[in-house]
Amino acid sequence: MRTTSLFAALLLIPSFAGAAEPPVDFGRQIKPILADRCVECHHAESMLGDLNLQSGKLSSRKRTGGPVIIPGAPDRSLLLVTLTLPAKDQKAMPATGHRIPMDEVSLIRRWILEGAKWPEGEEGFIPAKKAAKEKDV
Ligand code: HEC
Repeated sequence: MRTTSLFAALLLIPSFAGAAEPPVDFGRQIKPILADRCVECHHAESMLGDLNLQSGKLSSRKRTGGPVIIPGAPDRSLLLVTLTLPAKDQKAMPATGHRIPMDEVSLIRRWILEGAKWPEGEEGFIPAKKAAKEKDV
């Protein structure tokens, strides 16, 4: 009986250790940021900076400025770096509008650190909004 409860206690330890934050969920936590703040300028018909952020595949297409996401290396990933540049820096993103709040920047950092998993298919695809197309970007 005693051995059993000790064993049960030991089994509980890893679950405590693993109680840290769950991995970032692209669909729930990252996609909305890109959809609201980035894709209006970075979609198939408006590839500003030679960059399309509508899907994982498109965002990793070869571009002259080099890759924008380096899985595991947020500080070398332009997608994150441009968000942390001083607002007056020409390369600071988003190019217009308010900055991305720090908690969202941290989420993006953690997502890249965790491997920047971007689901394929509809789950990972961000349509360009109609309104954005009509806007003068
Ligand atoms: C209003 C339009 C606009 C919005 C919104 C916008 N961008 Fe950009 N983005 C640009 C332009 C223009 C460039 C090219 C800037 C340059 O090369 O100097 C660019 C370039 C980039 C680059 C490449 C930088 C480089 O050095 O090669 C990255 C990465 C980027 N944007 C990420 C983002 C992210 C992430 C968001 C959303 C948080 C975003 N952008 C929102 C217009 C925009």
